[in-house]
Amino acid sequence: MWDYTKSVMDHFSNPRNVGKIENANGVGEVGSLACGDALKLYLKIDPETGKIEEARFQTFGCASAIASASALTEMVKGMSIEEASKVTNDDIARFLGGLPEQKMHCSVMGREALEAAIANFKGEEIAEHEDATVICKCFWVDEQKLREVVIENKLKTVEEVTHYTKAGGGCGGCVPDIKRILNDINGTKADEPVEKPRMTNLQRIKLITETIETKIAPILRADGGDIELVDIDGYDVYVKLHGACAGCSGAKATLQKIVQETLRKEVDPDISIIEASK
Ligand code: FES
Repeated sequence: MWDYTKSVMDHFSNPRNVGKIENANGVGEVGSLACGDALKLYLKIDPETGKIEEARFQTFGCASAIASASALTEMVKGMSIEEASKVTNDDIARFLGGLPEQKMHCSVMGREALEAAIANFKGEEIAEHEDATVICKCFWVDEQKLREVVIENKLKTVEEVTHYTKAGGGCGGCVPDIKRILNDINGTKADEPVEKPRMTNLQRIKLITETIETKIAPILRADGGDIELVDIDGYDVYVKLHGACAGCSGAKATLQKIVQETLRKEVDPDISIIEASK
């Protein structure tokens, strides 16, 4: 489905430097295991020279997340921490010969883990998200991270922000704030919401089916899950959720909410998602 480069496929199929470093002196952990990608990066840094002697990782994520983490460990081995701190998410993507635009958030996760590991080595605290600054509550992305990624990658649209951070890719409730940040940084108007025409029953069923297949399922499948459309009865949509994220009730409720909000945004605000019984 995704157009991966040979290098991405190679690093995904034969990831380098997988595992823990027991005596690591720089450890960075980012992402969430509950319902998405997560990455833990271990660095062994010579305290005298500041040179990265060894880098290893553990990850829970899609092919791009594994390939990005593998590439990152190869890139930073032998670097000084000053050199490593200048590695950008774009450097990781370029090392792999590019990543699909929709998967750029995996390279961002790598850069964040590196930042966290270096901060850990230096004994610095990485500021925790404060609820007030969290813009995207579906993917727990705060304003500071959004601003950094928009500036660093010269992002111009909400869609690009979603590709790089996942923010805006769930219920869409944070889209106005993402536009505000884009407008603030770029001094331009980000894309405007589109008025949706009223639909017949047949049109609505078709759009629900298409939205699940083209917008919702690919995101869930990329993270090891899946969704099965079972039935549509008026505005009630019966689905089955599969995969790692559907394993616990909290994550399942979040997934269900994301699916419902996405269909409400893309199709009709009266839609309800109901989990189909077996
Ligand atoms: S709050 Fe950002 S997508 Fe739901």
